Amino acid sequence: MAELRTYRIVTIAGDGIGPEIMESALEVLAETERQVDGFHLVMEKHLGGVASYERAGTPLSDESLEACRTADAVLKAPVGLPWARRPDGTEVGLLGGVLRNGLDLYANVRPIRLWPGVNAPIKAEPGQIDYVIVRENTEGLYLSRGLGIGNEHAMTDILMMTRKGVERIVHFAFQLARGRQGSPSDGVRRVTCVDKSNVLRSFWFFRQIFEQVGEEYPDIEKAYLYADAAAQALVQRPWDFDVLVMENFLGDILSDLGGGTIGGLGMCPSGNLGEQAAYFEPVHGTAPDIIGKGVANPLSQILSSAMMLEHLGEPKAAGRIRDAVWRSLDSGELTIQANGQPAGGTAGATRAVIAHLN
Ligand code: IPM
Ligand code: MG
Repeated sequence: MAELRTYRIVTIAGDGIGPEIMESALEVLAETERQVDGFHLVMEKHLGGVASYERAGTPLSDESLEACRTADAVLKAPVGLPWARRPDGTEVGLLGGVLRNGLDLYANVRPIRLWPGVNAPIKAEPGQIDYVIVRENTEGLYLSRGLGIGNEHAMTDILMMTRKGVERIVHFAFQLARGRQGSPSDGVRRVTCVDKSNVLRSFWFFRQIFEQVGEEYPDIEKAYLYADAAAQALVQRPWDFDVLVMENFLGDILSDLGGGTIGGLGMCPSGNLGEQAAYFEPVHGTAPDIIGKGVANPLSQILSSAMMLEHLGEPKAAGRIRDAVWRSLDSGELTIQANGQPAGGTAGATRAVIAHLN
């Protein structure tokens, strides 16, 4: 008998709607494991976010951070609650600094794809929007996380780019483009550099490094957009994009904009990747307004788990989940309403996906 490929997965169910959508993703993963031979996930639960802060005084214990570092992958739900803040206004539950900077997970990969059955504000066929935002995840403006200097009259945060940081994220974007099929409108493999190099020197630095690194990828088309123009283009002609690479803060904002075009952030999975570790999570937050109502869209978490399987080297299982999501939406058994919530609630959405797994 062939050997069973076993993976150690750390799960962090987080706060707010986190535990609800995590449960949904774990059900889908368990069923996928039953149906696709050859792999086994060993789940290891850890507390994170406000849930951990309230118990242990820290959003992530040292042991849990170490578990994330040594696991084969981490599946994380949203963390943080707006009422759990430090005196400086920042939220106690957030883990971005601890995990992204702590584990040097420099590439934040955010696929934006229009699925069928979604009440999206943009007129497009399913699959006609299909691009990936590659957000630099360890520097840029958010390097100043918690470090701003000032007083009651003035406050500064510094945006920093390093050559090493820009080079590695740009390489990542070109490599990613090599494994894709190009943009939906013309099938050309293309990486778009998004910046504000017309105004800020740090972004000019970014763009120059993009050009230098880009010379190593003659097979990939290069495109350039200022971030403000990119915001417009992602709404007017999203089908022209394949891979976009950008600084941390810009990536944070434009990935939410992208989500808005495809039915909301409930449709948006992501991966945080580096040399040491990787974690997968929805792009959205903990949705305090709908906690416990059973209406949250679990697809962001389910699709994050598919990204995780892909990363682990289980493309068949990942594809099985994505196909099930596609078919459940395409058949009309699962629909995403204009408010971003699934018509049958979280449980109904989960059942629909599981029903289409085989
Ligand atoms: C994201 C989130 C986080 C970020 C917040 C919650 C700190 O918005 O992953 O996009 O700003 O990076
Ligand atoms: Mg964000």
